[in-house]
This record gives sequence, C-alpha cells and structure tokens, in this order.
Amino acid sequence: MRTKQTSVSARDMEKMLAVSPYNRIALEGTEHIESVMIFDTTLRDGEQAPGIAMGSEDKIRIAMALDDLGVDMIEAGFAASSEAEKDTLRKIAANRLDAQVYSLARSVRSDIDAVIDTGLDSIHTFIATSDLHMKYKLKMTPEQVKEKAVQTVEYAKDHGLKVQFSCEDATRSNMDFMKEVLVAVQGAHVDSINIPDTVGVITPRAMSYLISEIRKVVKVPIAVHCHNDMGLAVANSIAAVEAGAKICHVCVNGIGERTGNASLEEVALNLFANYGVETVDMSKIGQTSKLVERITGFPIAYNKPIVGRNAFAHESGIHVHGVMSNTATYEPFLPELVGVDRRIVIGKHSGIHSVRGRLDELGIKFPEDHMTELMAAVKEMAVGGKQIDDAELMTIADHIMWKKVITDRAVSLEEFAVFTGKDITSTATVTVDIAGERRTVSETGVGPVDASIKAIRKAVNDKMSMEEYKLSAITGKSDSICEVTVMVKNVRGDGSLSVGKAVGLDIVETSVDATMAAINRDYARQRNDNGKDNC
Ligand code: KIV
Ligand code: ZN
Repeated sequence: MRTKQTSVSARDMEKMLAVSPYNRIALEGTEHIESVMIFDTTLRDGEQAPGIAMGSEDKIRIAMALDDLGVDMIEAGFAASSEAEKDTLRKIAANRLDAQVYSLARSVRSDIDAVIDTGLDSIHTFIATSDLHMKYKLKMTPEQVKEKAVQTVEYAKDHGLKVQFSCEDATRSNMDFMKEVLVAVQGAHVDSINIPDTVGVITPRAMSYLISEIRKVVKVPIAVHCHNDMGLAVANSIAAVEAGAKICHVCVNGIGERTGNASLEEVALNLFANYGVETVDMSKIGQTSKLVERITGFPIAYNKPIVGRNAFAHESGIHVHGVMSNTATYEPFLPELVGVDRRIVIGKHSGIHSVRGRLDELGIKFPEDHMTELMAAVKEMAVGGKQIDDAELMTIADHIMWKKVITDRAVSLEEFAVFTGKDITSTATVTVDIAGERRTVSETGVGPVDASIKAIRKAVNDKMSMEEYKLSAITGKSDSICEVTVMVKNVRGDGSLSVGKAVGLDIVETSVDATMAAINRDYARQRNDNGKDNC
C-alpha cells in the first residue's frame, strides 16, 4: 500500500462532508475497514470502451497523472495485443512510478512472455470460470480451465512477476468450482485474486455473500472488478469492501467496456465519506477526470456524480439561497474536497439571491431598486433553457444601470488597419485618442482579431486583459451578422471588469467595436463613480 500524500488534512476533509449520520451508525459492530487499495484500469478496460483509443503519449500522461493521484496499482494495457502496446508499456515501466504497474494477460504462455518483454513486474492474468464462458467461448472443460489457470500463475511466478489472478465472469460461476480454482492458484503462490462482475449482473447483497464465501478459502487479498451494466458497479464495489475485499478495480470517469466500470471518483469518495478510508489524493480527482475526458474525447455526463458539470451547479432560487447560507443544505460535500468548482447558474429558475450573489462576486454594486427590472430581463433572456453567462449578466446589468447610451466616448478609435492572409503574420495598426492624446501602435497576433485587440490593448493600457471573448453568428450564412461580446479587465489599471458588445458584418471590425465599447464603458463607470456624469 502506498503512503498517501494529500494536500488537505484528514480533519479538514472531514469538515467538508455532510453525509447521512446513519451511514456510520449502520456500520457499528461490523468488521472495521482499515484500508482499501485502488487498482486503476482506465488504460486497459477503460480503453476497451467503444470509441476510445489512446496513443502512447496519452497513455503515459494518464499513467503519470494516476500515479500523482496516488492509486496503488495501474493496469496500463494488454501487452500481447500489439507491438505498439508493448512499446507503450515498456515506456511506462521505465518511468518507475510509485504505483505497481500491471499488464493484462490471458492464461496463455505467449501473453505472459509479452508482459515479461515489457520489463513490467506485475501481471493480471485471467480465465473464465462460468459454465457459459467455458462452454461457448473457451470450449474447454472445467478441469482444463483449472489446469491452465495454475500453469499460468506458476509460469508468471517462476519469472518473478507479482500476479493477480481473475476468474472472469465470477458472478455467474459455480461457487464450488470457482473456490477450487482459487485454492489451486493460491497454492501456486498467486499474490492476489480478483472477482470480476464481468457483465454487471450481481446485486450488492449477493456480492457481499460471494466475497464472504470466497474469504473462507482465499487468504491472499481479494479484489473486485465491477461493471456497470445495471447501474450497480459502485454499490457492488462498496458491498465487496464491506464484506472484506481489499482492492477495488476502477476507471476514471467510469469508462470501460459497454456501460463502463466502477468509477474511480465515486468509489474513492464513498470510501472516504462513508467509511473514513482514504485511498487517493481526493483534491486531484477533478483534474484527473478532466485530463481523461480530454484525452479520450469521451464526454462526462452533465449529471455524473462528483465530476459532472452539474454536480455542484445550483440554479433554482431555493437551492441557491440555501447553499449561500450553508453549503451543506444542498451539497453532500464541498467541491474543494475533490478539486472541482461550484457554479451558481443564472437561468430560468434563478431567484433574486443567485443574481445578486453573482453580481457581488463579479464586483458589481447593483442598485437594489432596479433589481425587479433586472430579474425581468434575466427571465426574458433565459426562456428556452438558456444559461446566462457572466458577460451577458453584466451587459444586462450595465444596460439597466446606465440607460443612457454612451455617446461621449473617452477613448476613440481614430484609425484602424489590419494586414492578414495565408502564411502571413497578421498585423494590426491602430490610432486611438485618449482625452486628446493620440497614440499609434502596431501589434501582431495569431489572426486579425488577436492582432487588432492586442494593438488596442497596447495603445490603451498594456495591463488590460481580455477575460472573455464570445463570438456568435446571428444568422447561418457567411454574410451573416455576428455578435461579439467581450469582458476586459484593468482598462484603467484598477482591476475592474467591463463588458462590451457589438454587432456587425465583419468579425474583425465587430471585435474591435466590442473592445472599444468595453473600454468606454469602463471610463463611463469612472465618471459615474466620481459623480460627474448622471447616467
Ligand atoms: O470484466 C472482466 O471480467 C475483465 C477481466 C479481464 C478481468 O475485464
Ligand atoms: Zn472488465
């Protein structure tokens, strides 16, 4: 078991929880769960998910991230599947991670040889033990299966490998036969055994029974490998741990064959929150999940527990109000615990508390007597389920605060030219007039919009930053009208945010207009704050 390095202390982590008190009460008098090891198979079972294929560099990055997360074991691939896979495993082996790195292998000698060839020192070997698989897939008798299992474990052990052995389709295997096989591989000095629920068909109570039975004959650590076909992968993994399993096979984001494997995030969180067992550095869960999502291109469902974008998103007025006075009202644990963010979403169901709270966070002092007008505008914009982002909220708020259109511009764009084309560095030249002082500057950028905005920034204040840039086409053709919304910071060097919006036919010009609008809005705010202007 690896020593865990967690950035938050265990006591602080406890404070982040608001789970049911009955979870602990129900465990009174049961066997104490000391520790659980995480066997991550994102790079093997996870990669077997239809639609996922990872390159060598991607696999190495994920392996390193998993190691950093603190998992105990990583199943990094299936050495015998290809030369490329073997090569990747060799590179991962060379990285000398703290985690024990495994390769999968069927119970055939050539598969074990392929693993030996990678330089890895751990192997996960399997053979099916259910009548169904033995008869229709392996076309082998139970005796032949048992013999193969033992021969493979012996062969791997003779080559100095650490061996985990799995009875594939264990949850549909005959109990006596499975015990016989497990006792036999134990005799061959296997290091741990694994009970896969290969097609996700067992229930938590049955899993508990199965592990208790196997514990009667198996003395080495028992692992479980649960698939999610019937939505019980995490519950079954936890039930197995309650019954004495010491290792959980998991995949980041719950990816894996068909409907996936037990999700690493969910298993780790449940073990920590409900059993006080720390398995990984919880604060790195969010970043690991995002990395795997990015590399695999496999999107995380919005409503996925822990790492889904809605896991800590609150929109309805009642919930936002509750969360603002005490997060525990509608959050079972703090997002910081798992390294993700809370989002207060402004939309159709938002109440006044959400809107006021968001404006406060954005540093906007919005007059209370205009709140009803603002809420009406927000609701009108949110019809059809649209979520209102910060820039849009600020635009509406600004519009209500300063009904008067800013006509007397403090900063005007006197001249503007952009030079762009294929294989040419885009260059923009602008002349701005700031309170009578003319400044002419040029800048280059990755494209004409970037060059133009950089030139304006250099002319106005090079500490100014573009916090958000949003471009949308209002109709759907190449000559369509586009709308650009920008949020800039630090126009006058005081850290304030300002939004500008423009509509036009040309993307570059419209982007420039929106930036100038944001700059002038900031100057107008200054005049307003100084009481010189009564907008
Ligand atoms: O689901 C399964 O049975 C497997 C085996 C290879 C252990 O992934
Ligand atoms: Zn599997």
